[in-house]
Amino acid sequence: MKIRQVEFSGTVMNPRAPFPDTLPQVAFAGRSNVGKSSLINVLLGRTRKKLAHVSATPGKTQGLNFYRVNDTFFLVDLPGFGFARAPRPVRDAWKKLVEGYLARPDGPRAVVHLVDSRHDPSPDDLQMLDFLARAGLPSVIVLTKLDKLSKEKGKRQVAELTRTMRLDPDQVIPFSSKTGEGRELLLDAVAALIGDVAVDRDVAGDPGIHGGQEVEREGT
Ligand code: GTP
Ligand code: MG
Repeated sequence: MKIRQVEFSGTVMNPRAPFPDTLPQVAFAGRSNVGKSSLINVLLGRTRKKLAHVSATPGKTQGLNFYRVNDTFFLVDLPGFGFARAPRPVRDAWKKLVEGYLARPDGPRAVVHLVDSRHDPSPDDLQMLDFLARAGLPSVIVLTKLDKLSKEKGKRQVAELTRTMRLDPDQVIPFSSKTGEGRELLLDAVAALIGDVAVDRDVAGDPGIHGGQEVEREGT
């Protein structure tokens, strides 16, 4: 899939609130600081003018952020979970918002779940995997920050995490926002998840990083 157009469509703060539109949705989930905003910026081709807010302080993303992509689907950025230092009411509010959203029949068609490639999955990661399995939501697991590991160690971690989380290797995408590794694979996986048959692929060798364009449209 090639990114032609991206528009921020708004933030949903309530799990029962109406969505901006009826387009299919793919939700992006992961614990706080896993690199979700960075991944979304790279995925959507934003290297200079950022779409999603990247910060060194965990817990920045609060609501459900909707990005309309190619007028074909919504990429939904979920607030990060398992921020250990967050007070209980904050964590409870998160659970209500995110789990309420994921369970909606008109909610996401699939979930891209980000896990840090350097660490064992957290209890929240395991809970999320379990939730997705029980909800019958198709998922892709992205292992983030791969550039922080040596090639050897990275390979071992990918195999190890695939085994401990009992994943199908086809479900797992090693990724780095720093190098762009995994971008094309993930875009194709997302296209498959939304059932987009009319996906046009990037030309071989084109890193595709500059594909995203911000276009303001009128009357649509
Ligand atoms: P919250 O919104 O706070 O939950 O965090 P997030 O998951 O959106 O993470 P974010 O993208 O803001 O990144 C957190 C930190 O990790 C930042 O300092 C990023 O620069 C860094 N980071 C993210 N992705 C990568 C990566 O692929 N490689 C490296 N080396 N650093 C990364
Ligand atoms: Mg974020």
